[in-house]
Amino acid sequence: MTDNRDAVGVIGVGWVGLVTATCFADLGHQVVAMDINEAKIESLRSGRSTIHEPGIDELLARNAERLTFTTSMDEVLGRARLLFCCVDTPPTYSGDADLSRVRAVVQALPDDSEHALVMKSTVPAGTGRAIKRDRKGLAYVSCPEFLKEGTAIHDFMNPDRVVIGADPGSEWAADAVEALYRPLGGELVRTDVASAEMIKLASNAFLATKISFINEIANVCEETGADVMEVARGMGLDKRIGPAFLRAGIGYGGSCFPKDVSALKMLAGNTGYHFQLLNAVIEVNELQKRRVVAKLEKHLGSLADRRIALLGLAFKPNTDDMREASSLVLAARLEGEGAKVAAYDPIAQDAARDLLPTVEMSGSAEEAAAGAAAVVLVTEWPEFLQLDWAALRERMSTPLVVDGRNFLDPQTIKAAGFTYEGIGRPGANGTG
Ligand code: UDX
Repeated sequence: MTDNRDAVGVIGVGWVGLVTATCFADLGHQVVAMDINEAKIESLRSGRSTIHEPGIDELLARNAERLTFTTSMDEVLGRARLLFCCVDTPPTYSGDADLSRVRAVVQALPDDSEHALVMKSTVPAGTGRAIKRDRKGLAYVSCPEFLKEGTAIHDFMNPDRVVIGADPGSEWAADAVEALYRPLGGELVRTDVASAEMIKLASNAFLATKISFINEIANVCEETGADVMEVARGMGLDKRIGPAFLRAGIGYGGSCFPKDVSALKMLAGNTGYHFQLLNAVIEVNELQKRRVVAKLEKHLGSLADRRIALLGLAFKPNTDDMREASSLVLAARLEGEGAKVAAYDPIAQDAARDLLPTVEMSGSAEEAAAGAAAVVLVTEWPEFLQLDWAALRERMSTPLVVDGRNFLDPQTIKAAGFTYEGIGRPGANGTG
């Protein structure tokens, strides 16, 4: 086909869209990225990133000449044949994925054979088929993203695999997407649309299952005196299991796992299938956050009017993302028990302020810990390893640390005069 629309089109410049746009630009492509949010586009035009992601500012600066940011769909359609759809699909009250933004994108596209919609947004299996029913001429490719926040640029440039799903009639578009990704290496999985959609949901649900599994093992370890870190190390050496995603803690959060596990559960439920395992994965994750309260009460008795300091609020380190962060449930539960909650996070505090209006946002870990009966490590920010724990203890009313991510060295913390509680580690029942 002859066409001069050789730019890569990106629709929706949120986290996935911006990483996709800047990385394709860095690979040497012209990229036209479109969003309906004018303030966002203005900011990006002047080189200011709208997300916190390591390396993104450098990519924006380095590729300024290859990147066009626009609010005009016509501009994208005029310059690009491949349109990467990166709008978000947040969960609805029913737990289904909200596809209204995806639908708005589809409605804005002409039903021609000149363009292809490449779906990056996480959508339920069957979405591609439904879109194709309405837009028979438009080519459609499912190309789910597997990026992790905080390492997204590295993940994009070094994929384990790239999944490209297309049905008959859309092969030209799948070939074009494959050509874009081929230089990155990584296994290229060419498949049909429904399978590609399911690969994404099943992968995230499986990883979430791994986390809930190791969290339950940790809870049993607390009863038996075993150390879950040792157990995970021993398990992970079995190649069939692998060492990743076996870190016990206070549960998973973020914009993907909670949403995707729930979406897969609802998808199954809507077809009449009861996905029992995922119910347990979700319930374990919910209870895991709440177990911290029992750990605190074991040492402190009632939490009423006690000050509890949370170190870290973001759902994981190196991001300011507060979506589905464990800290939200934990802070609310602590306040429900009458505790006064103070918190410090190196960068997520601004994002957290509106979500946690009754929590005292402190300027430092030391400030949060002043007068506190306990410190709870919620997010494993590297800077917390450098804290002067002995000095911190001096400021507290009770020397108690609950390490919600098994991040700290128990010996260091104990040597600083603290009682240390991890998740599934010796000492949890006073044994260490
Ligand atoms: C995840 C998927 O990894 C990624 O492939 C997908 O594209 C989006 O969702 P992300 O949400 O950025 O990425 O975070 P990830 O690093 O996977 O962590 C998710 C949550 O699980 C975090 O809250 C983290 O603290 C928790 N986690 C992770 C554990 O509790 N234990 C682990 O062993 C691993």
